Amino acid sequence: MAELKTQYCGVELKNPLICASAPPTHTPEACRRAAEAGFAAVVLKTHGVELPDSLLKTVGRPTYAMADWRGINRWQPKAPKKSMSRKYGRKGKVETPYTMISISPGVILSYFVGDKYVDYVNKTKDLVSDDCLVIASIVAITERGWEEQCNLIRKTNADMVELNFGCPHTFAEGKEPEDFSEEPLLGSMPDLIEKYTTFCIDRLDIPVISKIQPEGVSLLALAKICQEAGAMAINFSDSSFLHALRIDIEEETVGWSRDYPSFSTFWGPWVTPYICGKLVHFRKNGIKIDLSASGGVSSGADVIRLMMAGATTVQAARSIMVEGWDVVHEWLDFMNEWMERKGYRSLKEIYGSAVDKVITDYSKLPLYVPQIMGGPEPDKKMVVNAEKCIGCGWCEACCSHLAIRLSNDIPEFDYKRCEVCGLCEGVCPVGAIKMVDK
Ligand SMILES: Cc1cc2nc3c(=O)[nH]c(=O)nc-3n(C[C@H](O)[C@H](O)[C@H](O)COP(=O)(O)O)c2cc1C
Repeated sequence: MAELKTQYCGVELKNPLICASAPPTHTPEACRRAAEAGFAAVVLKTHGVELPDSLLKTVGRPTYAMADWRGINRWQPKAPKKSMSRKYGRKGKVETPYTMISISPGVILSYFVGDKYVDYVNKTKDLVSDDCLVIASIVAITERGWEEQCNLIRKTNADMVELNFGCPHTFAEGKEPEDFSEEPLLGSMPDLIEKYTTFCIDRLDIPVISKIQPEGVSLLALAKICQEAGAMAINFSDSSFLHALRIDIEEETVGWSRDYPSFSTFWGPWVTPYICGKLVHFRKNGIKIDLSASGGVSSGADVIRLMMAGATTVQAARSIMVEGWDVVHEWLDFMNEWMERKGYRSLKEIYGSAVDKVITDYSKLPLYVPQIMGGPEPDKKMVVNAEKCIGCGWCEACCSHLAIRLSNDIPEFDYKRCEVCGLCEGVCPVGAIKMVDK
């Protein structure tokens, strides 16, 4: 068996998988399910103070919807080809890409407010096995509120705490908007993130992790601020893609549900490459503290990708909501199988391995002056396999260089015009066009 242990905030985790703050951790019993399924840590739902009741006490009904990856049409799951073993708890593979929509304004932070949050943390600590860490999560608006939160956390047995600067609904002090579609969010105010990261570190003797979000900010600047403020880790999440809007052009209605003509948050596997890119960007630019990554994770392969990009741990929420906690068995099995196949014995060997491979100095990449601008003839060319070609004409239609003409339904290239951009190869539905060296 490969070694899946990892270090996070100076603590050893049995594997890098963390069940993110979301419904799959919203009660101690749910956290126990996460721990039993194999997660090495759970982040509890955020305890918020000074927030409006619409965040603390209300849900929308319906709250969620399943959509295609564009977030527009209903997603149609395919009937499973084969059932999975019962221990995995769900029948058959769920085919991505799907998107899970959170229909606003039905948002809820923690079900447990005030001292009940202390019981929630402590009961979770009692219920989960010792090899599963319990990470609390807090947010407040004013200094008084953050003080109150630190006092609350001190009463718990939490192993770590996340400061939820990632919530797309939390406004900054003195900037209370008329409605929640307005900025600025707390998470887009670097000075406040710095202030409250330091504030909580000074008051708490457990590791403090700052959770940051991508809307309206320079993420690298935010990450640097958290690191300089002394955070032991940053949790980088896409959780605030809030202003998604579904528009139905037949009904001419907006929103995902008749009752909620409002913005939604939505997500899909398409987020993960963005998170990978950001992690590498952080690592290349001086972020050395632990990074926990979340956003669209839907497979063991995604976990490996994010670790190669520099994540120390990986968090998942919506895949767990859709597919159940036990899907992580499959992810862990995949990681083991992949590492063994590749000859890796420990995650340390793959951690951050993509970072140095990414070239950001574009002058080091092979770039060409186009022929049309007087550049040299390309040293590659496009060729057609006439036997495979079905004569659909897609390549001709998409060629903005007008370098392709169909002759007897077979594409012919004008190599004087062709810039060898490769788009025709990409669109060919039968793989009949290939780029080759001249
Ligand atoms: C319904 C729902 C509730 C969430 N609640 C919280 C929360 O209370 N605190 C928090 O820090 N993040 C919260 N999140 C964000 C997740 O922790 C996570 O960062 C985000 O969903 C991205 O991960 P995913 O793509 O695996 O879902 C919530 C996400 C969802 C979908």
